Amino acid sequence: MNQFNTFDSELDCNLSQKKYPVRRYSQVCRNPFVKVGVSHKGDVSIGCDRGHYLHIGNLFENDFASIWNSDAAKNLRKKIWECDYSDCRFHTHFPTFVDKSKIEGYYQADGTVTKFPSIVKFDDDYSCNVACVTCRNKIRMMNKEDSERLDSYIDDYYLPILKDAKTVYMNGVGEYFASRHCLNLTQRIIEKYPQIKFHIHTNGILCDEENCKRIGIIDKLYNVSVSFHASTKETYDKIVKGGNFERVMKNLKWLSDQKKQGKIFLVEIIMAVSSINYKEMKAFMQLAKNLDIRARFWELGTGFSVDAPTDQDYEKYAVCLPGHPEYKKMVKLLQAPIFKSDNCLLDPLLESIRKGKAYNINNKLTLRRLIKYLLPYGLVRFIQNKKDAI
Ligand SMILES: C[S@@+](CC[C@H](N)C(=O)[O-])C[C@H]1O[C@@H](n2cnc3c(N)ncnc32)[C@H](O)[C@@H]1O
Ligand code: SF4
Repeated sequence: MNQFNTFDSELDCNLSQKKYPVRRYSQVCRNPFVKVGVSHKGDVSIGCDRGHYLHIGNLFENDFASIWNSDAAKNLRKKIWECDYSDCRFHTHFPTFVDKSKIEGYYQADGTVTKFPSIVKFDDDYSCNVACVTCRNKIRMMNKEDSERLDSYIDDYYLPILKDAKTVYMNGVGEYFASRHCLNLTQRIIEKYPQIKFHIHTNGILCDEENCKRIGIIDKLYNVSVSFHASTKETYDKIVKGGNFERVMKNLKWLSDQKKQGKIFLVEIIMAVSSINYKEMKAFMQLAKNLDIRARFWELGTGFSVDAPTDQDYEKYAVCLPGHPEYKKMVKLLQAPIFKSDNCLLDPLLESIRKGKAYNINNKLTLRRLIKYLLPYGLVRFIQNKKDAI
């Protein structure tokens, strides 16, 4: 069992209540019970790690208590509590299973949770010091006026929702260290809730000891996810325009030391797998092993980005799509034993590709799917009819 991997490989996509193994009824995916995401427009959503898919209200229009226990949120929780995962996107997102006993104390049968979220993710400032080709076509910084507008939400809207938070996660849409607003928000969080820890998602360029000390998070880092995308400078430079390969390498060594000393719980390097970098997946894994950190791989998408990739670029880069000319080479590469290592986390699509169960991204009804889903259904109906006739 991969100790880093919270994804239970027994659970495939299309998981529904019927397919969910009864023996796991004692467990539940904790995400809708403990986690929210907040966007720059105040939209609040719940769901999985890589994208909160269910919009449950707007922070600037309603009070958070009513959003957190809105009908939409309660209905989703009730379903998940009953092990009905039919709304979940397990082909691209990770559930995080915990024993129900961990949640029972503050969960009520109508879907209400009596505690505010323990994990809050802010995705509100798109500013970044580089331009990755997968994400945007030029360097973008939020103007002073918009940045100050976000700051003006901190005291009235953002801080109150953190009253039960253990971890704040930043920033899914831009670069934490390049965002004036994220740094202001961090300072206010530290003043009001000194016990809160941080999960920083970063390109790693400015994630060094000096900056972490200056910001005040040096002893408050819980997870650090560094999007590095390559094992060589040549490939890195093709993806991270305006980046600094050597500096990120240096910072990774520092982060790795911090983790070894027990000062950070988890450090990972992330590769968004594309036709530009997939040949370096093995070397990327080796790099993570050498640093004694986790390597995480996920497929390229379109939803993350500010203004890229375009449709044409996406087709060119999206090596995880079965129609891509280099798809088979990528699948072959994934068979290497190193991808079964404890410190490797393949996101669900890549994990299913590795196992030869590629999820059909176009959702086409293939003969295999027909046999898999319709035949058992037909048999059940047949038996049912027979029973009814008796
Ligand atoms: C938008 S970034 C923001 C955080 C930080 N700046 C970073 O790069 O880690 C969040 C994550 O989205 C990933 N990403 C960007 N564009 C993507 C795309 N088209 N498909 C998949 N992941 C993408 C990045 O690699 C990064 O891991
Ligand atoms: S992926 Fe992250 S580092 Fe790259 S451009 Fe987007 S926000 Fe910036």
